[in-house]
Amino acid sequence: MSNFLADIFHVLQPWTPHLLLISIVLFVFQKFGGSHIQPWFFAKVYNPSLANYHVKLRSMKKEHFDSMTDHVSADPALRKKGALRILEIGPGPGYNFEFYPAKSELTVVEVNPFFEEQFFKKQIEHPHIKMERFVVGFAESMKDVPDNSVDIVVSTMVLCSVRSIEGALQEIRRVLAPGGKYYYWEHIREYEYFWVRFVQHLLSYTIYDLVFGCRLNRKSDEVIKANKCGFSSVEQKRFRTPLQPGFDQLCVFHSAHVKGIATK
Ligand SMILES: C[S@@+](CC[C@H](N)C(=O)[O-])C[C@H]1O[C@@H](n2cnc3c(N)ncnc32)[C@H](O)[C@@H]1O
Repeated sequence: MSNFLADIFHVLQPWTPHLLLISIVLFVFQKFGGSHIQPWFFAKVYNPSLANYHVKLRSMKKEHFDSMTDHVSADPALRKKGALRILEIGPGPGYNFEFYPAKSELTVVEVNPFFEEQFFKKQIEHPHIKMERFVVGFAESMKDVPDNSVDIVVSTMVLCSVRSIEGALQEIRRVLAPGGKYYYWEHIREYEYFWVRFVQHLLSYTIYDLVFGCRLNRKSDEVIKANKCGFSSVEQKRFRTPLQPGFDQLCVFHSAHVKGIATK
């Protein structure tokens, strides 16, 4: 482990001035950018930069979402067409859309309005699904989505940002039709190495929360497992994302993940 730590410092050292500069710029955005600059920045710069993460984990994610094709819609009209109604919360630029079964009708609830234009443009890249609605709002308060109205809810790397995980879970359960499924894939608090957890705490209460609105130390796995909102079953697994040599080693601070399916 000490070699591993030394490797990380070795990788980090030449990047320190760049990281510092980026942090200062982001901090200024957060502090003085009002309600406009930061969401714009996220939509145009930060979230597209998640592309590497998705390319690296594409086959693992595909495997996780594959079982959606076996699900049958609770809506008789959709069932007849062999279609599903899917709701994704916090889709960002839409890296998950490729995984949805053909004929899916997709609604998204996204706090950042700058993704709306991209959402409808994505229809060209994903003709197998139908981009139905873009709702600007919070996962914890999805008043524009009726009770029992969707077959599948999806979130990937969103519970680290919501104001209340329990509030979001309650809403997810409310909008799901009976038998509906919530597919999640989230980074979580480190569960093995104390020093990683320690750095996660430091980052979470400083730069990560201030700049990215994200907490690296969220115990989303434990909150979902506690199942206070009453899913009929929760099946989940903790895992680590693989780290490649070099700069990628920095991802050790969000390598601990959970993936699972909760059924209403
Ligand atoms: C780290 S990005 C993940 C984007 C995408 N899900 C992915 O896996 O690439 C977090 C996303 O959640 C959105 N978000 C943050 N808080 C939210 C909330 N309370 N309700 C809905 N979306 C939220 C952000 O705007 C952003 O698009």
